[in-house]
Parts: sequence; C-alpha cells; structure tokens
Amino acid sequence: MERVIIRGVGSYVPDCVLSNADLEGMVDTSNEWIVSRTGIESRRICLDTEVTSDLGSRAAEKALENANISVCDIDLILVATVTPDMQFPSTACIIQGKLGCTDIPCFDINAVCSGFVYALDVGRNFLINNSMMKNILVIGAEKMSSIVDWEDRSTCVLFGDGAGAVVLSRNTDTNSEASILDILVGADGHLSQLLYCQGFGVTASGEGERERFIRMEGREVFKEAIKRMCAAVEDILLRNSLTIEDVACVIPHQANMRIISAISERIKIPQEKIFSNLQHTGNTSAASIPIAMDEALQGGHIQSGDLILIVAFGAGATWGASLIRWK
Ligand SMILES: CC(C)(COP(=O)(O)OP(=O)(O)OC[C@H]1O[C@@H](n2cnc3c(N)ncnc32)[C@H](O)[C@@H]1OP(=O)(O)O)[C@@H](O)C(=O)NCCC(=O)NCCS
Repeated sequence: MERVIIRGVGSYVPDCVLSNADLEGMVDTSNEWIVSRTGIESRRICLDTEVTSDLGSRAAEKALENANISVCDIDLILVATVTPDMQFPSTACIIQGKLGCTDIPCFDINAVCSGFVYALDVGRNFLINNSMMKNILVIGAEKMSSIVDWEDRSTCVLFGDGAGAVVLSRNTDTNSEASILDILVGADGHLSQLLYCQGFGVTASGEGERERFIRMEGREVFKEAIKRMCAAVEDILLRNSLTIEDVACVIPHQANMRIISAISERIKIPQEKIFSNLQHTGNTSAASIPIAMDEALQGGHIQSGDLILIVAFGAGATWGASLIRWK
C-alpha cells in the first residue's frame, strides 16, 4: 500500500498581540478568570487589512521551504477554514493565486476545529488513490477575530488568528517506517446547536449583524470535547494495536488547558508528552494543530522516528485523530 508522509511543516501568526489585560479594557473580565478557566494568556489578531488567505499563504510558503520543494511541485491545495475570505471562491483558490501556481485543483473543507484532521485525511486519500498526485498542501487557516462577538465575554476571550500548513508526499524511501499510520474522523450532527455561527448560511434570520458571530453553550461543549477526544484517542490506539506508552508526543486541539488536562488525566498521558501552546495562541480552530505541530518541531519536542498523536474536536460536533510516525 502507498504510504504518505508529512514532508514539511510551516506556520504563521499575525504580529498583533491581544493580551488578557487588553481584554480587561474591552469586556467585564479579568486575567485571573481567563487564565484559570482556559489557560490562555494572549492571542494573535489580524489587522483589518489581513485576511485568511494571507495567513494561509504565508504558512504554506514556510511549509514548502521546510519540505524543500517548489510550489510548482504541488498537485492539490486543501484549506480547512470556517473564516473564508469570501463565500466563494474558495480560500484554497485564492491561496493558489497568491502562491503563484495555476491549474491544480483547490478546495476548502469545513469541519471547524477538526478541519485540519479532516483535510489531512482527504489529502492522504488523494495521494493513495491518484497516482498522478505526488505532493499536496494541507492548510488550516483562520481569522477567528472576524466572527467573534467582541461584546460577548464568554466567547471573545477564547479565540485567536493564525495558520499552519503541511506538505503531504508519498513516501518513496522503502526502508523508512515514516508515514501517517492512520486517521480517524467522526461527527454527531445532533450536537450542532452547541456551537455555531449562522453567518451567511440560509437559516440566518432576523437578528441582523450579530448573526455573524460565534454562539456557544460553553459547559456542554466542554464536556463533549473531553468525551469525544478521549474516545477518538482510545479508538485509534486500539485499532492499531498500540497503547499510549508507544506515543512520544500528543498534540491536542488547543482550545482550553482544562480540557487538555482532563483528557491527559483520563487516558493517563504523562504531562511531558503533551504539547500545548494555547497560552499564546488561544483557539485558532482549524489552524491550531498545524501551528502547534510546527512549534513542537521547532522546540525539539518531536524527533525522527517518534510516534505522534494528534486529536481534535470542533463544532458539528466533529472530531478526529491521527497517528503519525515522524520521518
Ligand atoms: C467558556 C468556558 C471557559 C466557561 O467556563 P465555565 O467554568 O464553564 O464558566 P460558565 O460558563 O459556567 O460561567 C461561569 C461564570 O463566569 C462568567 N463568565 C463567563 N465568561 C467570563 C469572562 N470572560 N470573564 C469573567 N467571567 C465570565 C459567566 O457569566 C458566569 O457567571 P455567573 O455564574 O454569574 O452566571 C468553558 O465553558 C469552556 O472552555 N468551554 C469550552 C469552550 C471551547 O473550548 N470551545 C471550542 C471548542 S472547539
């Protein structure tokens, strides 16, 4: 069977830092409340002139450089996002234009905070099933600040902007074990009302401008996130006859430190195996895992041959997990 590797990783976050102290001046909140409930200390926010495709193309350029290949060698661009530049064309097409390549197929994927894992699965399947394709760009990019209600203290403290990207390639080294071993994705549409943004959807009615914003039942989302991410981790380990002891580094979706701690307690993952950067990124939705992956690599938390486990949960509800043997 064809094997697929992550050949390069890159990320980009905007320069502007929005600290908890800044938020204290915007809504009735405190640094102490935000840190104790979420672990978040600051997040990056786009300028008005920056859009999701700007973040995504910068992250993609870094991933291409890291993979040491030219954009001309890319056969498909997939972008996971819920904050597209426009309703159409897709942000993937806009990024293709910004990167300067033409003709290759491009499309967006919406699985909210699980979007990167879904896109990884789609990209991997393209490489396995289409021998014409050799390299695929998978990007998670979000300008969450554009859909956050800056008057709603229960949600505006949680999110940030940014992008992460990977280059997926066929593994041509037959002696190497490096590959994406497995990807699991799932959804439960009965939970769709727990976290949503009507935006330009056709169900939007009556509430005017505020329909553009994120609405969330925080406590229920909190419980579901723990339940579904624990189940995803257990399922993917079980079906690969592996245990958590075999995993060198776990990169969970960066939503909330209390969610991550609850997962690590339930599954008995030692703290030192869990990578987290939400302290300075906040929740960047589909961008969160590839940004964290890039930071983990830069910080020396991932070594050649390591088994990596990523796991995500998002609105939908959606979830996903993947086991990756690092190259
Ligand atoms: C949002 C979240 C941090 C709130 O924490 P919580 O412990 O559940 O807090 P509650 O919503 O029960 O609110 C407790 C109190 O804090 C208040 N509060 C909410 N946001 C606040 C803020 N930013 N600052 C100060 N107080 C705040 C509430 O109004 C409430 O006050 P009340 O008791 O007087 O009514 C938590 O529910 C959470 O993290 N949920 C998951 C969110 C998430 O990760 N979403 C994305 C998933 S991909």
